[in-house]
Amino acid sequence: MGTERPSFDKVVEEHRELRDMIEKFRGFLGERQPDIGDEQLHGWAASLARQLETLHDKLFLHFQEEEQVGVLEELAEQFPRAISAIKRLEDEHGQILGEVRNTVTASKILAEGKPPSGPDLRDRAVSLLDQLAQHERVETDLMERLHCEDLGTGD
Ligand SMILES: [Fe+2]
Repeated sequence: MGTERPSFDKVVEEHRELRDMIEKFRGFLGERQPDIGDEQLHGWAASLARQLETLHDKLFLHFQEEEQVGVLEELAEQFPRAISAIKRLEDEHGQILGEVRNTVTASKILAEGKPPSGPDLRDRAVSLLDQLAQHERVETDLMERLHCEDLGTGD
């Protein structure tokens, strides 16, 4: 098996971009969510919706890339003991995208000054980012292990 994996490199680079995006997003979410009736609420919620839409688009393409390149399949082949964790990563792709879409919808409802059902939107967006960051971290760790084994430095 060769050590050249240009498509894997692209995925790794995208993980870096996603980490930056998540950090910027966390900065925005670090500020208080305006209350219903507050004149800043519309701008805040509309900005949240836009950032979530940008994230959705980026994630959609990223997950598609991972699936087409077969990153998760290759990891599963190399690390049979991690198969259930890898299967969970695969399932999370659809689940995370769905939650981003639902949070976009809730943000737009809030931008109209109506309270969306469910938990506080800021908290919801924070847990979404936490889940996404954890998801990408597990993938990155596995890919790094694979890289080390290719170089013959794994144990
Ligand atoms: Fe990923």
